[in-house]
Amino acid sequence: MHDPNRVYVFDTTLRDGEQVPGCQLTTTEKIEIARELESLGIDIIEAGFPASSPGDFQSVVEIAKAVKSPTVCALTRAHQKDIDAAVEALQYARNPRIHTGIGASDMHIKTKFNSTREEILERAVAAVKYAKKSVEDIEFYAEDAGRADIKYLAKMIEAVIAAGATVVNIPDTNGYCLPDQYGEKIKFLKENVRNIDKAIISVHCHNDLGLATANSIAGLQNGARQVEGTINGIGERAGNTSLEEVVMVLKTHAVLGLHTNINTKQFYEISRLVSSQMRMPVQPNKAIVGSNAFAHSSGIHQDGYLKNRENYEIIRPEDVGFPNASIVLTARSGRHALKFHLERLGYTLSKDELAIAYNKFLHLADNKLDINDNDLQSLMTGD
Ligand code: KIV
Ligand code: ZN
Repeated sequence: MHDPNRVYVFDTTLRDGEQVPGCQLTTTEKIEIARELESLGIDIIEAGFPASSPGDFQSVVEIAKAVKSPTVCALTRAHQKDIDAAVEALQYARNPRIHTGIGASDMHIKTKFNSTREEILERAVAAVKYAKKSVEDIEFYAEDAGRADIKYLAKMIEAVIAAGATVVNIPDTNGYCLPDQYGEKIKFLKENVRNIDKAIISVHCHNDLGLATANSIAGLQNGARQVEGTINGIGERAGNTSLEEVVMVLKTHAVLGLHTNINTKQFYEISRLVSSQMRMPVQPNKAIVGSNAFAHSSGIHQDGYLKNRENYEIIRPEDVGFPNASIVLTARSGRHALKFHLERLGYTLSKDELAIAYNKFLHLADNKLDINDNDLQSLMTGD
């Protein structure tokens, strides 16, 4: 039976994510990532934009052959030749989806297409009808929906659903919206578009103002049931929504009543795979997967953490496959942290012995940024 609280997760690491200069992947690398995405439990993999290059076409073909359970999606513009290329590239997909669309904001309509609202609406409907002749599952994107006139956007979405769209994507292409504005947009569509329940509303946000995750959540709270994004939030400019962030927000705030089928324990591993293949380091303080995401370094936090993890840990590192939380030894660390590490190395000290060791430690930490086990051994043995 259809579960109204299930959120479908659409990964576009291999399409929107791969548009980043310097992040281009070979087909073999893309297949490896696609298999990992499948094992992560991703519902839809956007494998590429087949009309854009022979290499992208081939990657979509190979990914469609390589994965079984996820829907494999290919992007097109609202052009018949793009749609033809996508249909051909998806021929081996068990569950193919075509993702077609066109600009919806007046800015795009006038200055990108040199066109009118009426003409763009006709092109949108024609593209969906054309794609529907070959593939049942059609997702429509209304590019720059974040800045589009809401009544026109609603008209466009209603028309493409009537033409056969199964999913309607409302991209905040330029990462422009505030969370309440984006949430309101989704609510308006949910309440005002005829037959909106025949399609799934999808949120596709960009991170230009650092709001992609917040906007995606606002969209889901207002009725969207598909979220689009990338691993590590990679993507053009400031990137796309980080899927690991959205999924963990939903898991941490169970009160929202929304859930995904993602195996969150695989986030760390896939984050590192994408980072190394795309030669794009993960910033250390990146939520969920950054190397410092579970590192506690100040004395007050370390003390509180050692008394009860939950004082400073809202997500268990093991839930996202992180090796473990770390108590980092720096000049800001307190005695509890030093005691913790010394005990781990087999040293049980009296209160006075710990005070002496702590003084030596502070001396060392003032002159060395990162104190490791060898340093602690030397500190104890006096070597
Ligand atoms: O950001 C965007 O508008 C897109 C569409 C092509 C879906 O990536
Ligand atoms: Zn995008």
